[in-house]
Amino acid sequence: MFGEQKVSFSGVQPSGNLTIGNYLGAIRNFAAYAESYKTFYCVVDEHAITVRQVPAELRRRTYETLALYLSCGLDPEKNTLYVQSMVHEHAELAWILNCFTGFGELSRMTQFKDKSARHADNINAGLFAYPTLMAADILLYQTDVGPVGVDQKQHVELTRDIAERFNQLYPGTFTVPEPVIAKNGMKIMSLADPTKKMSKSDENPNAVVYILDDRDTIIRKFKRAVTDSGAEVSYTPEKPGISNLMTIYSCFTGKTMPQIEKEFDGKGYGDFKLAVGEVTADALAPVQANFARYLADKGALEAQMKKGAEEASYYARRTLSKVQKKLGFVQIR
Ligand code: TYM
Repeated sequence: MFGEQKVSFSGVQPSGNLTIGNYLGAIRNFAAYAESYKTFYCVVDEHAITVRQVPAELRRRTYETLALYLSCGLDPEKNTLYVQSMVHEHAELAWILNCFTGFGELSRMTQFKDKSARHADNINAGLFAYPTLMAADILLYQTDVGPVGVDQKQHVELTRDIAERFNQLYPGTFTVPEPVIAKNGMKIMSLADPTKKMSKSDENPNAVVYILDDRDTIIRKFKRAVTDSGAEVSYTPEKPGISNLMTIYSCFTGKTMPQIEKEFDGKGYGDFKLAVGEVTADALAPVQANFARYLADKGALEAQMKKGAEEASYYARRTLSKVQKKLGFVQIR
């Protein structure tokens, strides 16, 4: 909360091509806050380097992620859209929060455990301290709500713990944030293995539908999606493949699970998969058309990065200097 205004903050890593999981679990839900909240949506490039990146690709994806924010309907006049590394307060507050976060707390983070298993040759301190940088992102803006997919809930909960601990020592420093998890799109699963999250870093491109996949590719990927035994379209834990496809269909059409079951009653998996592919391609078509337009104007994207960073810095500076003062850092104006 800044003054009387509530704040929404969220971020996306430019670490791969964005997926319909990122779209349904997060980005699609960002715009709704703009009317009544102060909103900050960040391209978190500093988070991305916890895993090795090819510099030219990181740079390209940073532009693309910003262009996708715009293409998904985030109006830059109503939302602060910016790149994390352009606002140095994120890294500075992260250092401070490192000093208020337990080794044990960070060791328990499931994302750290997963990523250190996947990148066993590069278990760096940044990967370990990733959640304190995320806490800094959120707390810098006195955030009330963070719209995220369910995989980020643990990190937002840790952020709450850090904020509460800090506030106990130095009252009134931070707003304690709530994670907001979209009801339906909270966890979109891989098309190749419906027990695994759909992830932009998956090595199997058929497991993932990217926001920018063309229509034929989208339809082909859904056709090949792993489904379950039986032939009935029904939402049940025994059918994780079909249930995942139903979730996606429901997200894009607004239909409930019983409505979908009725619609495909007596029809086979083939018809259903085609329908999921079609609604997905239809829903993404306008985003894709906007994306091409935004990405073509690099100058405008850079102007937006600059403007967004200036807007964000104003708020970030206020919180950081409040924190520094409370800690006893000398401040000379
Ligand atoms: P990232 O870049 O992995 O993902 C961006 C957002 O997409 C959501 N998401 C999903 N939702 C549903 N189903 C899926 N299969 C799926 N895959 C990804 C994520 O939950 C996330 O909301 N640490 C964050 C980025 C971050 C952040 C923040 C988020 C940094 N600072 C502060 C919120 C607030 C991350 O790696 O997201």
